[in-house]
Amino acid sequence: MAASIQDYFHTQFNAAPAVIARAPGRLEFIGNHLDYNGGPVLGAAIDRYVSVAVAARADERVVLVSEAQEDRVETSLEIISPASGATSWGNYPLGMLKVMRDAGMRARHGFNLAVSNDLPIGAGLSSSAAIELATGYALAALYGFAIDRKGIAMLGRAAENTFVGMPCGILDQGCSAFGKAGALVLIDCAVNDFSTRPLPAGTHFWVFNTQKKHALIDSFYATRNRECMESAEILRRADAALPNLAAATEAQVEVARDALGLARYKRALHVVRETARVRDTLEALDRGDARRTGANLTASHESSRTLFENSCGELDFLVERVTALPGVFGARLSGGGFGGAVMAFTDSSFSREAAGRLVADYAARFGNAPAIFHAQTGDGAGVLSRA
Ligand code: GLA
Repeated sequence: MAASIQDYFHTQFNAAPAVIARAPGRLEFIGNHLDYNGGPVLGAAIDRYVSVAVAARADERVVLVSEAQEDRVETSLEIISPASGATSWGNYPLGMLKVMRDAGMRARHGFNLAVSNDLPIGAGLSSSAAIELATGYALAALYGFAIDRKGIAMLGRAAENTFVGMPCGILDQGCSAFGKAGALVLIDCAVNDFSTRPLPAGTHFWVFNTQKKHALIDSFYATRNRECMESAEILRRADAALPNLAAATEAQVEVARDALGLARYKRALHVVRETARVRDTLEALDRGDARRTGANLTASHESSRTLFENSCGELDFLVERVTALPGVFGARLSGGGFGGAVMAFTDSSFSREAAGRLVADYAARFGNAPAIFHAQTGDGAGVLSRA
């Protein structure tokens, strides 16, 4: 690893970068799969970042390198299309370039771009949103375009949806853009409104990453998204004005139970109840009530397990064990599910020793140890320096 992103850029391109930008990873606090359903979600930026350094080239070439990837990506401004295989990591920065261009922000010449992470990749902390946002800020500064926080979050999501091909919502990009140390990010996904809420003092996040990724994870995610859209359509037969699934009531879902069928009924019930849980959590946070907040987190996991059916044995084991330990307010799967990470919300007494014992139990059961990460909240994405 190079000592700094400047050094790394220099070793790769034999020149100094013109701009350095960075964007943080995120934790999903509560509001599982509510973002693309128009619900409220709470997340946080963590103080681990993806950094991107760029400099203009005299030609039309686009060259991307990453400290975490063996393969460099080389293309030209004229040929921006998604790759598969070893260079597919480049789809995140290239996707950003493409959606910026579609929005009228055209790169005037090629560029060299280097990526470095102190954010673990594939740990359920959304390094993909971070690389999108860091790239977006770096290129905007390089070519002289202004983008605000909301703009960068929306572009990042568009890159993911239209270029990477992942039908995600705005949670990851919104938290990476609007994060603030000591705060949670609240996103009203019905109207893309972003704000922050203070975290109760003395609370902590511990992340247990199973390092398990279901081979079909992307298709599972897309299936859940489709089931939710179909559920909203079915509910609209009785209420044409229903804006999205998160706006439905439990009574509406019950009335439509037969029309929905079992799977869609369960997905819809999760979305409606999870929406109520986020609202209750906001009230609890206003009172500084970490216990009530934690209980909602654990209830959210239970709903993901039984209704949204995006959990797995490894995540359930971690939630069950960690919530039995002293100092833990609650725990849940954080992110898309089907593998990935569990987040525990704790007081200051929860220790690495306690986490270590849990990991040993997990390893005895599943054969590998999850990675433990004591996450601190951090500030959102932005430009760090320009020459
Ligand atoms: C992933 C997606 C987000 C969100 C969560 C589930 O992290 O990228 O948009 O849907 O899953 O809440």
